[in-house]
Amino acid sequence: MANVLVTGGAGFIGSHTCVELIAAGHDIIVVDNFSNSKREALLRIEEISGKKLKFVEADILDQYALKMIFDKYRIDAVIHFAGLKAVGESVHMPVEYYHNNITGTLMLIKAMRAHNCKKIVFSSSATVYGVDNPVPYVETMPTHTSTNPYGYTKVMIEQILRDVAVSDPEWSIVLLRYFNPIGAHKSGLLGEDPNGIPNNLFPYIQQVAIGKRDYLGVFGNDYDTHDGTGVRDYIHVMDLARGHLCALDYALSNTGVEAVNLGTGKGSSVLDVLHAFEKACGRKIPYKIMPRRAGDIARCYANTDKAKELFGWQARYGIEEMCADGWNFIQKNPNGL
Ligand code: NAD
Ligand code: UD1
Repeated sequence: MANVLVTGGAGFIGSHTCVELIAAGHDIIVVDNFSNSKREALLRIEEISGKKLKFVEADILDQYALKMIFDKYRIDAVIHFAGLKAVGESVHMPVEYYHNNITGTLMLIKAMRAHNCKKIVFSSSATVYGVDNPVPYVETMPTHTSTNPYGYTKVMIEQILRDVAVSDPEWSIVLLRYFNPIGAHKSGLLGEDPNGIPNNLFPYIQQVAIGKRDYLGVFGNDYDTHDGTGVRDYIHVMDLARGHLCALDYALSNTGVEAVNLGTGKGSSVLDVLHAFEKACGRKIPYKIMPRRAGDIARCYANTDKAKELFGWQARYGIEEMCADGWNFIQKNPNGL
């Protein structure tokens, strides 16, 4: 069992991963600045796991705060979720995105290096595959372009971490490329709680279902897909959380750098998700077809062979469970956490 620092552990994916880490017996320390999350998430983690959580409210840009954390706890490995993630916002605030995500990661690596902690699991994204690669995406494909600053932070951080691994062979680095994480913890205590109007499909559908918004705008129905709407690889957040446990185990006993897709390998369209959610909540979800959203692609899904081979990991849940758990969460938390 390891002492694991979880940056961004109060966020959507981080909070679910904390629950799995504690259940597996790891000792975790969470650092978060709550720029996109709430303290309540930490209480919910404690409620689910029945354990007191070690937590430091700090910004990973704060070198002194990081030093204090590494001095105080004997950290074996870091799972690094902390980052800003809204694609549209990143176009308007590129400097803030590059600073928070890239400088934040550099500060973290420096603190790790100074304390001889050389194992990190990083939250990358399928966005690194850009717009030119054919689906399904395989880890060996080129990943040097993006359509927005958020995506470029992931491309650049992957490169930085690869260079770190070259400079010092003692490092162990796993770049997890998430596809579209949705759903919630079975208890309904944790789930996705975006600020303001949701940018992403699933939280938007949840808010229409609960009556907070009138209808879903479907961004385009003229794509080259089975029903004309965009196809994505939706993955249950608890499957994703379990993937982090596998990546951590791998990092604890290997060195070098590996990029690994975490997806189901199956694509679902916007209307597939909408209809699955209607089934889960037992009500109609009104929608209107709108123009395409700038930067969107027709299809995005993973080749999942590498995760299976390297970690023995495979997604267990389908779109039905993702919708059932998402519905449970929004019913219990209509106004978020
Ligand atoms: P989230 O916003 O819910 O969680 C990120 C957490 O990091 C938040 O709690 C936020 O307060 C914290 N944070 C941000 N900057 C910080 C800083 N400088 N110092 C300390 N804490 C900071 O997002 P999420 O959906 O849980 O995503 C987690 C990670 O996974 C992010 O790096 C994101 O880019 C990546 N990712 C997410 C998705 C997705 O669809 N949710 C897809 C691909 C990759
Ligand atoms: C988006 C980001 C991606 C990021 C991920 C997680 C873009 C182009 N991509 O992925 O980089 O890693 O979020 O933050 O922004 N849709 C609607 N109506 C809506 C919302 C979405 O029809 O109100 C459609 C989209 O056109 C798309 C699908 O639903 O076809 C999924 O969209 P979304 O949930 O935003 O995820 P991605 O665009 O795949």
